Amino acid sequence: MIDTRLESALSRFEPDEFTRVKAIAESATLDLLKGRGAGSEWLGWRRIVRDPDRDLLGAVRKHAEQIRSESDLLVVCGIGGSYLGAKALVDLFPDKQEDGLQVRFAGYHIGGSALERLIREMETPRPDGEEKRIHINVISKSGSTLETALAFRVLRGWMEKKYGSEAKRRITVTTGPDGGVLNPMVHKLGYKRFVIPEDTGGRFSVLTPVGLLPVAAAGLDIEALFAGAESMAAELERPDIRILTYASARYLLHQAGVSIDVVGSFEPELESLTAWIQQLLGESEGKEGKGIFPVSAAWSTDLHSIGQMVQEGRRNVMETLLVVDQPISNLKVPTDPEDSDGLGYLDGLSFHQINRTALEGTVEAHSEGGVPVVQIHLDRLHEETAGELIYFYEFFTAVYVYMLELNPFDQPGVEGYKKAMYRRLKMEGDGKK
Ligand code: PA5
Repeated sequence: MIDTRLESALSRFEPDEFTRVKAIAESATLDLLKGRGAGSEWLGWRRIVRDPDRDLLGAVRKHAEQIRSESDLLVVCGIGGSYLGAKALVDLFPDKQEDGLQVRFAGYHIGGSALERLIREMETPRPDGEEKRIHINVISKSGSTLETALAFRVLRGWMEKKYGSEAKRRITVTTGPDGGVLNPMVHKLGYKRFVIPEDTGGRFSVLTPVGLLPVAAAGLDIEALFAGAESMAAELERPDIRILTYASARYLLHQAGVSIDVVGSFEPELESLTAWIQQLLGESEGKEGKGIFPVSAAWSTDLHSIGQMVQEGRRNVMETLLVVDQPISNLKVPTDPEDSDGLGYLDGLSFHQINRTALEGTVEAHSEGGVPVVQIHLDRLHEETAGELIYFYEFFTAVYVYMLELNPFDQPGVEGYKKAMYRRLKMEGDGKK
């Protein structure tokens, strides 16, 4: 179950101002529901959840089970929307990997030493002395993204050297229906392929095989994940008060000059999830000189880093907190009869309680410091609630970005660095010959 707490964000606006903006949110919601907003050809993320392809889910689960039974390490090679969602989900449930397949991510940077380290890990024998068994899942909708393609060239070469003609059984390609360099490779080399639907953009693709295969291989229950997304989709089939209020609050803050949203959580397991939200919001709303810059933060860690800036820096900051209500752990503060560290007053308290108190204290301090705080509560951490949250955020993002009169589903600005980089790389490449 998902709940929103918006008092801190909304208390600075007059009720009639809110009522006026809520009507804009309602109209944006109807545009989305009726498929008549900008970028309506990119609503595949709604279609796949409202009309689920159970055969595909089954095929993904079956392939993931095969990967799990034949491998010790799965390397997921992708960038942006082709890895952040999977990483968010895998990191939410780290214990699932404890006795089974380990998942690593690659292809999301051009750091040679990090790739070399990963290869050393792939080459390090298992604790029982046996060689590690590796599977690679390369994910790229366009099949042409440099970071991913470069890492895949190195990883593919390594796999072919190690497994020879068997390498093809240990490489799975997730890509768009056609185009790019991956589809011809699939046909020529016989890799297993999953298709990313044409109508589903990268950052909205976590519930396609882009996210589903890695997370199923990591031991998550993708049927439960999907069930959560489906039930949230059913709830959001008509204007929903949580979406309307949250989108209105963020819109009002945007109009009032707020330009930074620090998206954080007090649970380390949610760190990658806040990075997924950072991309979802950033690539969707940062256009035409508009948008609130989302920054992912890990509390309470970052209270000792950017906390000062949030509390007393320029007053252009809002904060979004993702909160899990039920404890994720039962760890309690052990008793020290000598109380040598002076923490005796906390004896017997759970880490969950202390963490929750730290959160409440932070909300109080930041609100008093003039920072509007939005809280998004999940009743418990489970695949089903994770599915609910994913769909909730995708839907919220679309509604809120429609309110800004932008297309939430394109990312024309990403091409800027690519053009400049490829021009320079081509010059360097030509100079080398
Ligand atoms: O959200 C997006 O569309 C982007 O972040 C893409 O996912 C990212 O650029 C990777 O693209 P591709 O999957 O084509 O390699």
